[in-house]
Amino acid sequence: MCGIVGYTGKAQALSPVLEGLRRLEYRGYDSAGIALVVAPGEALWIEKRAGKLANLEQTLGESVPDSHSGIGHTRWATHGGPTDTNAHPHLDNEGKLALIHNGIIENYVDLRSELEARGHIFTSETDTESVVHLLSDARKSHHGDLAAAMREVCAQLRGSFTLLAIHSDEPGRIVGARRNSPLVVGVGNGENFLASDVSAFIAYTKHALELGQDEVVDITSSSIVVTDLAGTVITPREYEISWDASAAERGGFPHFMLKEIYEQPKSIADTLIGRTAGLDPEITAGIDLTGISKVVIIACGTAYHAGLVGKYAIEKWANIAVEVELASEYRYREPAVDSQTLVIPISQSGETMDTLMAMRYARSHGARVFAVCNTNGSTIPRESDAVLYTHAGPEIAVASTKAFTAQLIAMYLIALHLGRVRGVVTKELSDEIGLELAELPSKVEQILETVEPLRALTRQFKDATSMLFLGRHVGYPTALEGALKLKELAYMHAEGFAGGELKHGPIALIDQGTPVIAVMPPAQSALHEKMASNVMEVKARGAVVIAIGDADLPSAAHNIRIPTSHEFLQPVLAVVPLQVIAYEMAIARGNDVDQPRNLAKSVTVE
Ligand code: AGP
Repeated sequence: MCGIVGYTGKAQALSPVLEGLRRLEYRGYDSAGIALVVAPGEALWIEKRAGKLANLEQTLGESVPDSHSGIGHTRWATHGGPTDTNAHPHLDNEGKLALIHNGIIENYVDLRSELEARGHIFTSETDTESVVHLLSDARKSHHGDLAAAMREVCAQLRGSFTLLAIHSDEPGRIVGARRNSPLVVGVGNGENFLASDVSAFIAYTKHALELGQDEVVDITSSSIVVTDLAGTVITPREYEISWDASAAERGGFPHFMLKEIYEQPKSIADTLIGRTAGLDPEITAGIDLTGISKVVIIACGTAYHAGLVGKYAIEKWANIAVEVELASEYRYREPAVDSQTLVIPISQSGETMDTLMAMRYARSHGARVFAVCNTNGSTIPRESDAVLYTHAGPEIAVASTKAFTAQLIAMYLIALHLGRVRGVVTKELSDEIGLELAELPSKVEQILETVEPLRALTRQFKDATSMLFLGRHVGYPTALEGALKLKELAYMHAEGFAGGELKHGPIALIDQGTPVIAVMPPAQSALHEKMASNVMEVKARGAVVIAIGDADLPSAAHNIRIPTSHEFLQPVLAVVPLQVIAYEMAIARGNDVDQPRNLAKSVTVE
């Protein structure tokens, strides 16, 4: 939920730290701060401000001293409101030790009481400040060894954390640690980086090191040492970042979200590469699928909606029971899990705490874990038996679009693969679906060529107080996703319903002029007529219906045409107009499209 950056090297530290914060601001943007080591033994230079990064940048001016090592932070507040005082970095009482943190320290209250009793003076309401004072004491007891102090402190913390610390006695040295929260190392030439994700330093280096759970990293401009909490040196996994810097830029689009909507033909094609119809044995390398009796998909938000579509496909093609669970609810009901359960966590970021903790619960009860993830080197895939990476590339906009359609592709591939493993999907069927999958990129392209009229139509409803979305079968999760997009971006009430459920109460919501979006099953589907009846029901009560489908619906006030596809694959196409509607409504309402209020891209707290 926060952006973490550290730099040490030959350049003036301010520039790479600021650049890193700009790239990470999507992770949280209610306050920001930077601390730099200026001269040995002197107080650190620090500046921090509530509000977006721009607020901090405006205060910097020419006052920033020379420095070759520093840390920076963009915050999504958990403990203590978004104020200058609560912004990170936090200092010890001498002003020589600075710390930044992503995550939640669950035992911070007890730690704070103990530290105040020792004479430490606290200035903020944050959980993080307990750590900097604890680290200050530990550093003294380790005769100034910051890494040894960090190892001791981490052993005392409960909760999740990415921590970075600098001390003015050691210019050029940064020590970091992580547990249940992301931290990667960027390996440069005469300079090194630490960050929440690679987008912070991709412009400087594509060579990265992955850090594991409860590991401490100690860097200078010319050295990188990784240990566990016992101090045993660890050799981290190295990898080359496949993205280039431009991929993380807007590419000429006004917003990342629009760029990512338009990237979907490519991200779908990239996710399909080499995985034709689930036949590629690589899809489940590392996991034994024999004897699976149940599939449980766990996810949050948009990823959860992808899981709901996956349920239809897996049950149909693999003939196995599928439960789809909201990750935040899953482990608290102590579900029945065993070694015959295949758990599929779906996560774009790979760091969503709700999903991670639910997955750990299932794993601790013997489940086999097969992750669907878009972020190489993130925590969820690292803790899974196997992972099917979606190749959607960096998704910067907080509202997920291309990651969602890539997750749908992953669901279809897993359904077909499971079906093949279980001997219930013939090669003919997988070839047939494979051909349909291969046509999706061009079909999405066709839709994107016709969005301008849809954007104009959307603006007619910009003052609506609510919008309802209807769908049946796989169109129902699609309707849920359309409603979530509109809530996230337009800050408008929106709700998705199963078409057949409307008459059991929600139809009372329909009033004269209520906008209703109907996600229509393909015209050839047995459910098309039933959905057409649902549209008649709401129209009879005054609704203005926008139908999305492969054929015009006479009763609809407006028809948005999408190409015909296999019924199960239709959400990949139908969701694109829904994404555009939400995008356009946000613009019409003057909202921040890429960083909507109250949200963060990766929710790494429970
Ligand atoms: C999607 O538009 C939302 N930003 C949010 O629901 C997101 O899908 C959810 O937080 C899960 O994130 P993840 O895929 O990174 O785990």
